[in-house]
Order: sequence, then C-alpha cells, then structure tokens
Amino acid sequence: MNNLRTSIIEIKKRCTQAINSSLDINILEQARLLFLSRKGEVASLMDCLKKLSLEDKKEFGPLLNELKEELNHLFHTKHQELLLKEFQEEEKKDAFFDVTAYIPQQTNGSLHVYTQAVHEIQNVFISMGYKVMDGPEIETDYYNFEALNIPQNHPARDMQDTFWIDVPGLVMRTHTSNVQVRTMELHNPPFAIIAHGRTFRNEATDASHDCMFRQLEGLVVSEDASIAQLIATMQLFLRSYFKKESIKVRCRPSYFPFVEPGIEIDMSCPFCSSGCSTCKHSTWIEVVGAGLVHPHVLKAGGIDAQKYAGFAFGFGLTRLVMIKYGIKDIRLLHNPQIEFLKQF
Ligand code: FA5
Repeated sequence: MNNLRTSIIEIKKRCTQAINSSLDINILEQARLLFLSRKGEVASLMDCLKKLSLEDKKEFGPLLNELKEELNHLFHTKHQELLLKEFQEEEKKDAFFDVTAYIPQQTNGSLHVYTQAVHEIQNVFISMGYKVMDGPEIETDYYNFEALNIPQNHPARDMQDTFWIDVPGLVMRTHTSNVQVRTMELHNPPFAIIAHGRTFRNEATDASHDCMFRQLEGLVVSEDASIAQLIATMQLFLRSYFKKESIKVRCRPSYFPFVEPGIEIDMSCPFCSSGCSTCKHSTWIEVVGAGLVHPHVLKAGGIDAQKYAGFAFGFGLTRLVMIKYGIKDIRLLHNPQIEFLKQF
C-alpha cells in the first residue's frame, strides 16, 4: 500500500509541476493528455482501486478522488489563465498593427471589377444630370411585372424565367426595371435616374448566362422625352464608358411590354472595324433594350401620360463589363478567384 501512497504523491508532484510550468495552451494540453485524460496516469491509478481490499478501497478511494479533483481544478485554472494571456497578446498585436507596413510581393487589394465599372458608369450619368436610385432585390409581383404592363397570365411573363419565393406575391427581381414605377411614385417629373444591381433568372448557366447577373436601368420622364434623346444618350454613354469617340449606335425594333415603341440598340464594336471575336465577326454588339415608356406604366406611377413622356433603357451591366475587359466567361466574374480578380 505504501507503493500506492508514494505513487499518489509522486504523480501529484509531477502533474502540478507540468501544469504550472506550461507556457501555452498546447503545452498544457500535453500535460492534460499525460496525466488527466482517460488513459492518463491518474486514470491508471484509479484502475488500481479495483484490485484493492474493501478496507483499502475505503482509505485510497477518497485520496484518489481528491487527487483527481485537485489536479483537474489546477488544470482548468491554468487553462483560463493561458487563454486570457493569449487574448491579451493578440490585443496587444492589434494595437500595434502598422497599416502602412510594406511586405515585398504583397498582394494589393483592389476594388472588384463590378465596383469599378459602377463608379465609372455612375460618373458618366451623374455628369448628365442623372440621380442614382436603388430598388429591392426581393420584389413584389406588382413592381416587377404588373405595374410594368405585364399582367398575370400575360405571355410576356415567359420572357423572364422567374424565381418565385415561398412568400406569395414576392419574386427575386428579374430586372432592374422594378425601380421604374417605384421612382415615379417618389418623384415628380422632370427627373432622370439610373439604378443598377443584381437581378435573378431561373436559367441554366453557360459562358454568357448566369442565374444571377447585373443590370443597369435608366429612366427619364419629362415633357419632351423622345427616342432621339434616348439614342443620343446611349451613344454618349457608350463613347464615355468605352473611351472611344468613334462608337456608333444603331436601332432595331423589339418588344418589351413596358415601352412603346421598344427597341434594341447595338453599338459598333469598340475593338475592330472589320470583325473580331468580341463582335462575333459582325462589327456590331447588342447592348441594351430600350424604348419610350408605355402610357400604362406612366399611369401606374401616377404620372399624367398626356403631359409627360418618358424613355427607359436596360443594359446587361454584366455584359458591359465582359465586353470592356474581354472576359469570355461570366462564371469568372461570379467566382471569387483571386488570380482572375488580381488583374483589375
Ligand atoms: C430586360 O430585362 C428589360 N428590363 C430591359 C429594358 C429596360 C427594356 C427598360 C426596355 C426598357 P432583357 O431581358 O433583354 O431586358 O435583359 C437585359 C439584358 O440583361 C440583356 O441584354 C442581357 O445583356 C442581360 N441578361 C439577360 N439575361 C441574362 C442572364 N441570364 N445572364 C446574364 N445576362 C443576362
């Protein structure tokens, strides 16, 4: 029995020393594994109890329990102390963090190419007197469709594969045109606004389509808004954004329920004059759907369609960025790949 008593004293001494001398949590954990884990030295001592007589069990049982409790308590106290120490050291490091420190070969942070494009585009339109509006990404059926002259069960709803959400009457907006009637309700004409942001369509992804992409909307309402102003605005904007004075635009008839007439505007390829891969060897690139705001939409926005006219346009902002930077696959834009993003 003397052996057991000696072992208790000896383990207590070694374990106390190991815990007290631990300088960090990892070293402390080693001590815990050695002495206090299920297969540690204290557990082995406890196992010896099974072989003892009843009388010895009565003597050594409490002693061993006391040893276990004491060492566990010591371990937890030390653990708390080391945690606090680590936290204080981290805090100290943060306090002396030098934001100007230069590390060779360090990767510089930069704005995402979308953000850069949005800044450039906003600058162009703000310089023309436009204001920047915002609209919700989760939208009511009313602002996304109904108020835009797309009633329920109208075949035009099939033009945009919609993500309906569980709450009845709400959709992920399929286009930034949802801001049109919202803007009319807020502002008295004349006004000129742009709005950009994420839009969502239940479409299969390929190199030029994604289920989430960005659009840029424009809306002007005034007494004399006209197709001529619309086309001139588009030309001016495209020349500024692509930094090329020779860009021309051309129009083709199209259909969007919220404009009448509806047109598609193509721009001459900013990169070639005789055909290249960007313009698919046609020298023209389709960039924007547009038209004169339909009187039903003006009416929905509380605007007198006899007195005022409007024009609206909707770019695929994603497409503009892809054309400008020669990005061939939309998925590159939407995946956070540092090697790709570093280029911008
Ligand atoms: C519209 O969304 C209309 N709201 C545009 C508009 C506004 C017309 C105002 C008239 C007046 P459309 O469905 O064609 O139109 O989409 C506009 C642009 O979004 C397209 O030219 C294309 O560049 C882009 N786009 C559409 N679907 C996708 C997609 N799945 N992935 C990437 N870009 C897309």
